[in-house]
This record gives sequence, structure tokens and C-alpha cells, in this order.
Amino acid sequence: MDFSFSDEQLMLQDVARRIAQEKIGPSAEHHDATGEYPLENIRLLGENGLMGIEVPVEYGGAGMDPVSSVLAIVEVSAADAAHATIMSVNNSLFCNAVLSHGSEEQKQLYVRAIAEGREIGAFALTESQSGSDATAMRCRAVKQADGSYLINGQKSWITSGPVARYIVLFAMTDPSQGARGITAFMIDTTRAGFGRGKTEPKLGVRASATCEIEFQDYVARAEDVIGAEGQGFKIAMSLLDSGRIGIASQAVGIARAAYEASLAYVRERKSFGAPIGSFQMIQAKIADMKCKLDAALLLTLRAAWTKAQGKRFSTEAAVAKLTASEAAMWIAHQAVQIHGGMGYSKEMPLERYFRDAKITEIYEGTSEIQRLVIARNETGVR
Ligand code: CAA
Ligand code: FAD
Repeated sequence: MDFSFSDEQLMLQDVARRIAQEKIGPSAEHHDATGEYPLENIRLLGENGLMGIEVPVEYGGAGMDPVSSVLAIVEVSAADAAHATIMSVNNSLFCNAVLSHGSEEQKQLYVRAIAEGREIGAFALTESQSGSDATAMRCRAVKQADGSYLINGQKSWITSGPVARYIVLFAMTDPSQGARGITAFMIDTTRAGFGRGKTEPKLGVRASATCEIEFQDYVARAEDVIGAEGQGFKIAMSLLDSGRIGIASQAVGIARAAYEASLAYVRERKSFGAPIGSFQMIQAKIADMKCKLDAALLLTLRAAWTKAQGKRFSTEAAVAKLTASEAAMWIAHQAVQIHGGMGYSKEMPLERYFRDAKITEIYEGTSEIQRLVIARNETGVR
């Protein structure tokens, strides 16, 4: 087994780290406080190949592999998790949708601008009454005599919804077929019939804009179907396998930032005449943080490696997302504790890490849903 990275992977990691440390980190507090969308930084990530990491060069991407995506998202997330949310959705859910399931014409039309970060992509599955139970969606796409589809309905919590140019939408084309009656569509948000709700105020990842979107007699042409009619749910699930590696990477980045801040603090901060790092109760926290962080990173890399082998990686992705998100939440919690009052203060980023970590246990399938996926895949029992 080889734990080393290739020169190309290390180079991409280095590019991501440089942008993260020089541009994203310094403005993270501002973006968190104001919720302002970090358009300039997203453009910069795009110019450096980081908004289409696995997209082939001929479609405007970096042409790299899934392990490179993990390394890059970890670096960006360690500086600011909100940027990592935008980046992960753009890469794993939007670009991947078109590349893996789209026609050659769709690839030519929709990937380049998004992979280069000139436009933003989004993914719309969730509705107000159907999050975990995604097949209970009500958004309807009704086929017309001319082969087009009339779309009506709403989607909730859409990451980058307020700014996205294109959205991969999942809508019910045949309710009698359940999961097999769902179809994926490419939505152009400049066309008639598309609308956006207000940007949601959130606990964390505040600069990653999220909103409700709605469709009122939006006309999707036959050529806007991604894959085949009725294949939408499988497409969504297979994209979420990749997306969950992205969120696991985001969680690792938050956890690493909280851990590194804690390491520095336990060396400096004195109590009872000694660095707090000399106390066994603090040492136990550091040791447990390190174990959880390493486990999260290695399981995330394993999932990416499995994907790169072209094998099914649903279980590996769910294991990585569950382990990494719960590690991030636990590590951020301990990091606040280690920093005492300063951990609770907005003068340090610990409370931001704590707020940001929570979302990784919720989106792209809650921790309960990851457990359900893992257990179903392991036992074969439903
Ligand atoms: N790959 C390919 N196909 C898959 C699959 C996968 N990973 N998982 C399931 N399928 C297929 C099944 O084989 C089945 O196919 P058949 O009809 O041929 O039998 C079909 O999909 C239906 O599968 P299930 O019967 O397992 O479906 P279910 O209704 O029981 O739901 C679930 C399964 C795992 C709970 C799923 O609904 C789920 O993952 N829910 C969570 C939704 C989610 O993660 N939403 C994220 C929204 S995006 C987001 O959150 C972005 C962000 O925040 C940044
Ligand atoms: P529910 O499904 O109502 O779940 C409520 C609780 O019940 C949870 O604890 C859940 O784990 C539990 N539960 C539900 N079913 C089961 C079960 N079978 N067994 C055990 N426990 C269960 N969606 C998109 O489509 N695109 C996006 O870009 C996107 N971005 C998001 C960004 C943010 C900031 C947020 C908060 C959400 C986003 N989502 C997005 C939606 C997100 O994926 C859902 O919130 C998530 O899947 C959970 O769905 P829900 O909120 O409806 O919770």
C-alpha cells in the first residue's frame, strides 16, 4: 500500500493551500459575519482549476483525480468552510452530473463556464416536505406533445441557488413509478418560469448562499433531460456518492483547522504555572482529536481512491462522510473547550469552526441516512 501522493496531486494541493491562506482565510471572518457571497474568491478558485478539478482539460477543468479533489477541498475548508461548500457542490454535484450523465452537447454547453468559475452550478433535489425521503418530491415535469416538459414546483435549501446560472434539477415525470419516475433536467436560471426565494439565514457556512427556488410553467426542452427519463433518482444517488466525499473533505478541513489551533494554544496558554498541554485531561483531548482527524482523512482518501479505481464507492463515501462529519463536530467542540472563554469569543475562529462543523452532519444525507446506507449495503436487509 502506498500512502504517498503524486507530484501533480501535491501541486494542486499547494495551489489550493496558497489561495486558501492568502485570500480565503483573511476574509473568512468578514464573510461569516456578513454572509456576503465570496464571488471574487470563487472566480480565483475557478481560474486555478479548483471549480472543476475532475473535469477534463478540454471542458475547462483541471483534469485531475478524486484524491486531488479531497486534498484541495481540505485546504480550502481549513481556511473557510463556506467556500468549500460552494466548491464541493460545483465540482461533485454539478460538473460531475453533466460529465457522468450528460450528452456531448450538454458537456460542450454547460461545463466550461462552471468549471472555470465564471458561472456557478447548483443541484436541486430537496423540497420542503422531502429531504431525507427524497423520492417523496412533488415537483412535477409533465411531458408535452412536442417532447418538451412543463415544470412546476419548488425546491428548498439550494446551495448557490441565489447565484447559480445553471441548476441540475430532479423532478417527478411519472409519480406512479416512485423512484423510477424521477428525471434529471438542466435548468437555465435566465429562462422564464424560474424564480428564487430569499437567501436563508444560517448558523454556519454563512457565505455559502442558500435559497428556495421555484418553477412556474418552466419549459424544459427534450434536450435538457440529463440521462434518460426515469433515471433521475439513480443519477442523484450516484452524484451524492461523489458529493459525500466532498463534504467529508470539508469536514476534515474544519477538523484540521480546529485541531491545529488547539495544538498551538495548549503549548502557549498557561494555567497553574504550566502550559495547559501538560495536563493529562488536555493531553487526552489532543490524542483523541488526532485519532479522529487521521481516521477521517484516511477514510475520505480511501473513498476517493475507490472512486478513482472505477469501482462502486457508495459505502466508502457514506463511511467517510459519517466519520469525518462526526469527527469535525467532536473536534470543534473540544477545541472550543480547550480555548476556554476565548473559544467562545468571536475574536478567535473556534466558534466559527463549531458552527460550520454542524452542517456536515446534515446536508448531502444526515448522519442517520449515512448509517442507513452503510447498514443496508452491509447487511443487504432493508
Ligand atoms: N447509486 C446508484 N443507484 C442507487 C444508489 C446509488 N448510490 N442508491 C440507491 N440507488 C438506486 C437503487 O438501487 C434503487 O434502484 P431500483 O429502482 O432499480 O431498485 C433506487 O435508487 C431507489 O433506491 P432506494 O430504494 O434505496 O431509495 P429510498 O427511497 O429507500 O432512499 C436513501 C434511499 C438513501 C434514503 C436516499 O433517499 C437518500 O440518500 N436520502 C438523502 C438525500 C440526500 O442526501 N440529499 C442531499 C441533497 S443535496 C445537498 O444536500 C447538497 C448540499 O447540501 C451541499
Ligand atoms: P428530514 O429529512 O426531515 O430529517 C429530520 C430528522 O429525521 C433528521 O435527523 C433525519 O436524520 C431524521 N430522519 C429522517 N429519515 C430518517 C430515517 N429513515 N431513519 C432515521 N432518521 C431519519 N439540498 C439540495 O437538494 N441541494 C442543495 O444544494 C442543498 N444544500 C443545503 C444547504 C444547507 C445549508 C442545508 C441546511 C441543506 C441543504 N440541502 C440541499 C438539503 C439537505 O440535503 C437536507 O436538509 C437534508 O438531506 C435533510 O433533510 P431535511 O432537512 O428535510 O430533514
